[in-house]
Amino acid sequence: MSSQFPEARPRRLRRNASLRSLFQETEFSLNDLVLPIFVEEEIDDFVPINSMPGVMRIPESKLAGEIERYARAGIKSVMTFGVSHHLDGNGSDTWSDNGLVSRMSRIAKDAVPDMIVMSDTCFCEYTDHGHCGVLHHHEVDNDQTLINLGKQAVAAARAGADVIAPSAAMDGQVQAIRRALDEAGLSQTAIMAYSTKFASALYGPFREAGGSALKGDRKSYQMNPMNRREAVRESLMDEQEGADALMVKPAGAYLDIIRDIREASRLPLSAYQVSGEYAMIKFAAQAGAIDEDRVVRESLGAIKRAGADLIFTYFAMDLALAGI
Ligand code: PBG
Ligand code: ZN
Repeated sequence: MSSQFPEARPRRLRRNASLRSLFQETEFSLNDLVLPIFVEEEIDDFVPINSMPGVMRIPESKLAGEIERYARAGIKSVMTFGVSHHLDGNGSDTWSDNGLVSRMSRIAKDAVPDMIVMSDTCFCEYTDHGHCGVLHHHEVDNDQTLINLGKQAVAAARAGADVIAPSAAMDGQVQAIRRALDEAGLSQTAIMAYSTKFASALYGPFREAGGSALKGDRKSYQMNPMNRREAVRESLMDEQEGADALMVKPAGAYLDIIRDIREASRLPLSAYQVSGEYAMIKFAAQAGAIDEDRVVRESLGAIKRAGADLIFTYFAMDLALAGI
C-alpha cells in the first residue's frame, strides 16, 4: 500500500454505534447526579420559576411527595434551598430547630430515608439584605458569620441532613463547621465544601428562584472568575480544614479549574451546573437553536470528563425520567 495513506485510522473505532459505545471513555449515571431543589414555606401551590423553565418552587407541604417521586425515578440525592418568609439581619431562622433549613431535612429524610440530603448552608435566602452573612458597616463580617454557619450546620445535621454544603464563601467556614459539628456529637455528618466558588453572572436565575433580596454583588467574598491559581488554593485550603469533598461552581465555563483541582487533590470532586447554565440550554432549545437532550448530555459528559465525580444539575430529574 502506498505510504501516502494513513496507517493510523481512528475512524475504525467509530464505524457504528456498538464500536463507539465500546470505546467511549466517559459516562455518567444517576449515581453521579445531585438534584438541587427550592422549597418555599407558607405557600400551597408550586410556583414556576420564569428564568428556569421547567423548575418550580416546591411548597413545603408537598416536599415529602416530591422526594418520593424523585426516589421512584432513581434520584439518589438532593440539595435543599429554602425560600424563606422569615428574613432578618443575620438569617437566624436557619439555626432554629424548627426553622425552614431544619424542616426541609427532616421532611426529606422522613419521606425517603435512603435519599442523601445535602443542606445548602448559607444565609442569603434568610437575610433581609440578601448577603451570605452578617453585615457590619456595609461589609460581610467573616468571623461572626462563621459562628452562625456552625449553628446552622448543627441544626441541619440534627434534623437529619447527611451532608452540610457551605456556600457562603467565608474564610475558614469548613473548619468552623467541622468544629461545631464535632462538638455537637455530629462527627459522622460530612462536609461538601463549595470550595472554589466564583462570583459568577451565571447565578442570575437562581436569584429569582430563591427570591434573593440582594442589591449589589458578592465580589468581596466569592472568587474572581479570572483566577486560576487562587481557585486551586481555595480548594486545597478547604481540604486542609477538613472538607470531605470539594466543588467547583459554576461548571461548564470552568472545566480547566475542575481538571486542575482533580490533579491537585485526592478528595471526591463535584461541579455545579448552575442556574444560568441551565437557562442557557433551556432557552436556546426553546428557540429551536439546539437539541436540548443532546446538549444536556454533552455538557454533563464534559464536566465528568474534566474530572468531576459528582454533578449538581437541575436536569437530574429529566435524565432520571428518561431512564438516563
Ligand atoms: C447561595 C448560592 C447561590 C447558588 C448556590 N448557592 C447563589 C449565589 O451565590 O449568589 C447558585 C446556584 C445557581 O445559580 O444555580 N450562596
Ligand atoms: Zn449565599
